[in-house]
Amino acid sequence: MKFFLDTANVEEIKRVNDLGLVDGVTTNPSLISKEGRPFEEVIKEICSVVDGPVSAEVVGLTYDEMVTEARQLAQWADNVVVKIPMTEEGLKAVNTLSQEGIKTNVTLIFTVSQGLMAAKAGATYVSPFLGRLDDIGSDGLGLVADLKTVFDNYDYDTEIIAASIRHLPHLEGSALAGADIATIPGSIFPKLWSHPLTDSGIQSFLDDWKKFEDSQK
Ligand code: G3P
Repeated sequence: MKFFLDTANVEEIKRVNDLGLVDGVTTNPSLISKEGRPFEEVIKEICSVVDGPVSAEVVGLTYDEMVTEARQLAQWADNVVVKIPMTEEGLKAVNTLSQEGIKTNVTLIFTVSQGLMAAKAGATYVSPFLGRLDDIGSDGLGLVADLKTVFDNYDYDTEIIAASIRHLPHLEGSALAGADIATIPGSIFPKLWSHPLTDSGIQSFLDDWKKFEDSQK
């Protein structure tokens, strides 16, 4: 399973990258706006730090706007993937961009049929938003599992990015469902490797060791 970081914060990316855990990065306009720096500057810096795909999202809503923006974004670095919203205009843009060899990540996927349409249009990645589906009482992990089944049924190469991950069960459930990638916010990453029983276990081993050393004096 590949792990992407869902952030536009370069310091956060560097920290997790140093652990060898970052296979790519996803951003969106909300995440970019939090950085308070020019879009191009942020994306170019992330692309230089990360050895893997970096998703940068278009903000236009028409086919012409999306394709024009996407062609510009693709010039910024070799590892830019253009994030396109799941709309009719977006699908048309994905179809054109895939023929030009520009990689796309179709975002805001909430149903199997949306994912299937994106895959048929030639998307490199689709991003089902688990957390936002759970927020409305729907089943985010079920969508990931169903997309995996459908893509396997028809041999689509499109990779599934489990997105809008809010907690550890989302990550573990996505892995069990066979998502190719999980994109994880920086705040969730430390939860992947920590457990209170690990911490208390280390402490009790050290306490016993100290007692043993003292008894040898
Ligand atoms: O990758 C999608 C993500 O940025 C959206 O997450 O938590 O805003 O639903 P969230």
